[in-house]
Amino acid sequence: MNETRKVFIKTYGCQMNVYDSERMADTLAPQGWVEAGSAEEADLVILNTCHIREKASEKVYSELGRMRVLKAEKAERGEKLLVGVAGCVAQAEGREIARRAPVVDMVFGPQSYHHLPGLIARTGNGARVVETEFPIEDKFDHLAPPSREKTIARGLTAFLTVQEGCDKFCTFCVVPYTRGTETSRPVDRILAEARRLAEAGVREVTLLGQNVNGFHGEGPDGDSWRLGRLCRALAEIPGLDRIRYTTSHPRDMSDDLIAAHRDLPQLMPWLHLPVQSGSDRILAAMNRRHTADDYLRLIDRIRAARPDIAMSGDFIVGFPGETEDDFRATLAIVEAVGYASAFSFKYSARPGTPAAGEAEQIAEAVKIERLARLQEVIDAGTRAFNLSRLDMEMDVLLEKPGRRPGQLAGRSPWLQAVHLDAPMELLGTIARVRIDAVATNSLSATLIETPSSRPANPSLRAGAAT
Ligand code: SAH
Ligand code: SF4
Ligand code: F3S
Repeated sequence: MNETRKVFIKTYGCQMNVYDSERMADTLAPQGWVEAGSAEEADLVILNTCHIREKASEKVYSELGRMRVLKAEKAERGEKLLVGVAGCVAQAEGREIARRAPVVDMVFGPQSYHHLPGLIARTGNGARVVETEFPIEDKFDHLAPPSREKTIARGLTAFLTVQEGCDKFCTFCVVPYTRGTETSRPVDRILAEARRLAEAGVREVTLLGQNVNGFHGEGPDGDSWRLGRLCRALAEIPGLDRIRYTTSHPRDMSDDLIAAHRDLPQLMPWLHLPVQSGSDRILAAMNRRHTADDYLRLIDRIRAARPDIAMSGDFIVGFPGETEDDFRATLAIVEAVGYASAFSFKYSARPGTPAAGEAEQIAEAVKIERLARLQEVIDAGTRAFNLSRLDMEMDVLLEKPGRRPGQLAGRSPWLQAVHLDAPMELLGTIARVRIDAVATNSLSATLIETPSSRPANPSLRAGAAT
């Protein structure tokens, strides 16, 4: 039996990092590692980092400054602290991190997570370890799947990576360099993982991939399956009542996926489909390989298949060469689509990407001004969307106790937070409610129908009994 040691994993960036952090914890568990609540309590701290924008990247170095202090304090008490840097900054900067931050014992990229127990062993004699190769073997074959016990503790919703990496090479983006080339997991592995999740009480799964709708995993029949077919198979798993996926590229929004939205009630009416800009000139410079009009026509087709679908997106302002007219085209596409919500970012020049070398970089003050104008339009759209839910009847997955006793909180099909008065026994069920008030960040509702009883997440049942 291994001695018990404590690991604290701090996660930055996207949902895939959240998923990866869980898999790292699951992979370490059989070696006697339990999860610590904070870095102070831990014997090993792993920073799972994000490289997408400069600000995200810089967070790592300030956190490593804190780790240096913590490691010194622990050393004074005769305790050891191992520090690892994982994720996309590790992949992109590798040895540079080890050089700049002597506190770091291990640097390892997203394709090395299954090697983690071995990497830790190699630090035993004080060696520093850097591993950022893209190994030939598939890490998913070696990473621990979600354990039943931990899945129960994590609750009713779960992430499931089905695809990783990206071959699109948008000219602003680091992801093809940090996550590598586009690969899809085999269908039988994904279905097995989804069944495990459902058996542990998960009701909603979000399929993850940098370019998730480009999924082309090998099916049990030897065919290459697209995402729509995968969703159809997932929808047959008892208990998995809600399926979402993120993030999609407009070019890969295939007919089979649109048809799945038409046919599968489990596929939630919510689509994150980033367009980045409304200007054809900028879209071409970004290498997005579609026009604003292609995008609008695509959304028309999606809405024809699933009329209640709500759109979400990502936008970049201040891409090199963006004029006021280009920016106005972005405002116009936001108005034309009517997003339920959207993320917007100031362009951040990333080392090694083509756009970073463009001469016509936009001044920071212009980026700040455009971002504020864009966010105003996006926020107005979100408010209008939320208001349009007033008096509507909808299904809400009741995920956790609410702020007040006697209240539960959950999510609408459109990812809105919903609060309502409801008994604890309904935790883990999908309830039919009517929306009776709309606030900035949440909706309040009244229960109109007690849900048909379903086996809820066992940990929630235990909580409900007390
Ligand atoms: N397809 C990916 C996208 C990751 S990046 C996914 O699975 O999430 C998320 C968003 O960050 C992008 O859609 C883009 O809007 C923004 N982004 C990426 N690179 C950026 C950069 N260099 N500067 C500013 N925003 C950027
Ligand atoms: Fe980056 Fe997404 Fe473009 Fe791929 S499709 S390069 S992940 S923005
Ligand atoms: Fe960031 Fe890497 Fe995700 S750069 S957004 S953590 S894929």
